[in-house]
Amino acid sequence: MTIFQSNLLAGKRALVTGGGSGIGEGIARKLASQGARCALIGRTREKLARVASDIGGSVHPADVRDYKALESAITEATTEMGGLDLVVCSAAGNFLAPAATLSANGFRAVVDIDLCGTFNTARAAFEHLAKQGGSVVSITATQAFVPMPLQCHAGAAKAGIEKLTRDLALEWSRFGVRVNAVAPGPIADTEGMSRLAPQDFESFLQKRVPLRRAGTIDEVAEAVLYLVSPAAAWITGTTLLIDGGSSLLGAGPFLDLMGS
Ligand code: NAP
Ligand code: COA
Repeated sequence: MTIFQSNLLAGKRALVTGGGSGIGEGIARKLASQGARCALIGRTREKLARVASDIGGSVHPADVRDYKALESAITEATTEMGGLDLVVCSAAGNFLAPAATLSANGFRAVVDIDLCGTFNTARAAFEHLAKQGGSVVSITATQAFVPMPLQCHAGAAKAGIEKLTRDLALEWSRFGVRVNAVAPGPIADTEGMSRLAPQDFESFLQKRVPLRRAGTIDEVAEAVLYLVSPAAAWITGTTLLIDGGSSLLGAGPFLDLMGS
C-alpha cells in the first residue's frame, strides 16, 4: 500500500545496505516498486540475490565494517547503475546482553556494524551523491533515546547514528545531499523482533504500545519513501519516529528482561 503517486522514483538509482532481509528488504522492494533501480549490499550473496531477482536489482556482497570492500561494492554498484541518488543504511546487528557481562568485543561488534557501518556507507557514497544531489536515510531504533535493559550496545550505536545524521546533514547540505533517519519501534515479522521480543509479545503490544500493535515493514518503508521523495525536499538532519507511540511509555515490558 502506498499513499504516493506511482513511479515517484523513476530514473533514481538507490543502494540499500541490509537489503537482503527484513526491513532493508522491504525498503528495497518499496523503492523499486516506485521505479528506482536498486543495488543491494549485505554479507550473504544468496539473501541479496533472492530479493534482487524479484525487483530487477543488483547484488554487491560486502561487510559494512570493511571500508575497502564496501567502497569497491558501492563504486561497482554506482558504475553499473550510471550514478547514485539514494542510500539507505539498514544493516545492523543486535542481541540481548547485560552490560555487566557483555564483552568489549560484543559491544564493539554492534557499534562497528551499526554506527561505523553507517558512516562507512555514507562516506563511500558521498562523492557519487554529491554529483547531482541525493539523499541518505539510516534506520535507527527507539533504543537510541529510551533507556532499555540488555541493549546498551545497540542504544549507543543507534544514538551515534542519530547524531551522525545531524552532523552529516549540516556538512552536506551545500552539496545538495540530505541526510535523515527513521527510528522504528517493534516491527512484526523481523529478525530484530525475534531476537528481542519478550515472552507474551502480543500482550506487550496491547498494553505497552499506545496504538496497540506492532508496526509493519511496509510502514517503515513508506516512511523512508517519504524522506527520499520530493515531498521531503526541505527536510534534512531529522529522525522520523515511527513506533506507534511505544517510546512514550519508556522501555515498558522490556524492563522485565532485567529480572528482579
Ligand atoms: P535483519 O533482517 O537481520 O536485517 C539486518 C540486515 O543487515 C541483514 O540483511 C544482514 O544480512 C545485514 N547485515 C548485518 N551485518 C552486516 C554487516 N556487517 N555488513 C553488511 N550487512 C550486514 O533485521 P531487521 O530486524 O529487519 O533490522 C533491519 C534494521 O532495522 C536494523 O538497522 C535494525 O536495527 C532496525 N530496527 C529493527 C526493528 C525491528 O523491530 N526489527 C526495530 C527498530 C530498528 P547479512 O547477515 O547477510 O549480512
Ligand atoms: N550475547 C552476548 N555477546 C554476544 C552475543 C550474545 N547473544 N552474540 C555475539 N556476542 C559477542 C560474541 O561473544 C563476540 O564477543 P567475544 O569475541 O568477546 O566472544 C562478539 O559479540 C562478536 O561476535 P561474532 O559472532 O564474532 O560477531 P559477528 O561479527 O560474526 O556477528 C552479530 C555480529 C553478533 C551482531 C550477529 O548476531 C549478526 O551478524 N547479526 C546480524 C543480524 C541481526 O542481528 N539482525 C537484527 C538486527 S536488529
